[in-house]
Amino acid sequence: MQSPFTLDSRLSLCVGFVRADAKLADIGTDHAYLPVKLALEGRVKSAIAADINPEPLSRGRQTIEKYGVQDRVSTRLCNGLEGISPEEVTDIVIAGMGADTIIGIISCAPWLKDKTKRLILQPMTKGERLIKHLYDSGFEITEQKCCIAEGKPYTVMCVEYTGNTTPCTELFTYTGKLHPESREEDREFLRLQVRLLMKRSAADVKYKELAEIITERTDPQ
Ligand SMILES: C[S@@+](CC[C@H](N)C(=O)[O-])C[C@H]1O[C@@H](n2cnc3c(N)ncnc32)[C@H](O)[C@@H]1O
Repeated sequence: MQSPFTLDSRLSLCVGFVRADAKLADIGTDHAYLPVKLALEGRVKSAIAADINPEPLSRGRQTIEKYGVQDRVSTRLCNGLEGISPEEVTDIVIAGMGADTIIGIISCAPWLKDKTKRLILQPMTKGERLIKHLYDSGFEITEQKCCIAEGKPYTVMCVEYTGNTTPCTELFTYTGKLHPESREEDREFLRLQVRLLMKRSAADVKYKELAEIITERTDPQ
């Protein structure tokens, strides 16, 4: 079914990683656009729109009622995944938050270390810390893409647990599984990473070296 509203490119990218017939949890849902959109399109079995704050959750409830999807989308007032049990979800979206908050949420739910669960993560800042944490904890990025929303590049990672704690390189924490050779959005995101690294290079020359390697991949001379 065609849904009556469109998501911005950032949330659309997240939606693209949600599996068909998933039992979804959208953590930090705010307006609940993402789970409502998926429910309207019949793409999820069920969805939990969760938020730690009552105000955003009440905005979410309004969206759910407006589009009449109360039978498929429920709300949950909770910190991260604390009020959600493993049987209720297969796919978990955590979008629009800083990496440290996302790391905190993942660390408090050890049941995510399950190969059947999928995490869809969209950090607003410090994505490199999130990637390091994921690889140190036995998770792996299966796919990663970028988009431009309101002129700014964002990245979304599709993550699954493997149990392998293969350490990743520092370079990988900045580049992840992006494809600068074929996607302009990925190049834009990596150019942002380069600017960030160049700012850090005043404190440590290693950041300049990382920036140069990324530039070579993104904009080869
Ligand atoms: C900027 S909004 C993002 C909304 C939506 N996910 C998006 O990406 O557009 C962040 C939301 O996360 C919620 N939030 C922050 N920390 C949280 C936590 N630990 N658990 C659940 N929700 C949280 C906030 O209340 C807020 O509604």
